[in-house]
Amino acid sequence: MSEINGTIQRVLITQEQIQEKIPTAAKLINSLYDGTPILLVSILKGAFVFLADVLRQVTVPCEVDFMEAKSYFNHTRSSGTVALTKDLSHDVKHYHVVIIEDIIDSGRTLKEVAHLIQARQPKSFTIITLLDKPSRRVVELNADLSLFTIPDYFVVGYGLDYAERYRNLPYIAEFQLNS
Ligand code: IMP
Ligand code: MG
Repeated sequence: MSEINGTIQRVLITQEQIQEKIPTAAKLINSLYDGTPILLVSILKGAFVFLADVLRQVTVPCEVDFMEAKSYFNHTRSSGTVALTKDLSHDVKHYHVVIIEDIIDSGRTLKEVAHLIQARQPKSFTIITLLDKPSRRVVELNADLSLFTIPDYFVVGYGLDYAERYRNLPYIAEFQLNS
């Protein structure tokens, strides 16, 4: 348990705004189906809430798998290194892989994960992210679908944390560290 030395500033994206966009993600996934099942891959832990909402609107055969990659270690700025702490249990060769991500910030985590999965030759590879902070990008990486583009704020809620807290909020809020 770490100390929380910051506060929620304001709601950036409401629960209703998030729910309105979920079908867009589900539709893209449904459109990929050609007889080969879809493998939804979520990067723990931040994306599990988004995955749960999208998954329930997918109407084609699909399976779920998880990876864990860490780069933040309780700070609001990326450490610059990415550690893979849990790998997939599926052989991606037999699937259309769709990454379900919470947020793309520097892009380092997803770039690393994308390299790793693409080298294993899935039938196709698609990236869907709930949030995108393009102004923070340090590597070249674009999602196929991004539901919301946000400015350079640190955000929490709907699965996203600060020091493991606030994942339970049903909305996305701006979080500010005490100065
Ligand atoms: P990236 O490698 O810099 O793109 O960051 C990837 C991961 O850092 C995301 O998947 C999140 O888990 C975390 N992250 C980045 N920005 C935020 C934020 O504003 N709030 C909470 N977590 C974040
Ligand atoms: Mg994440």
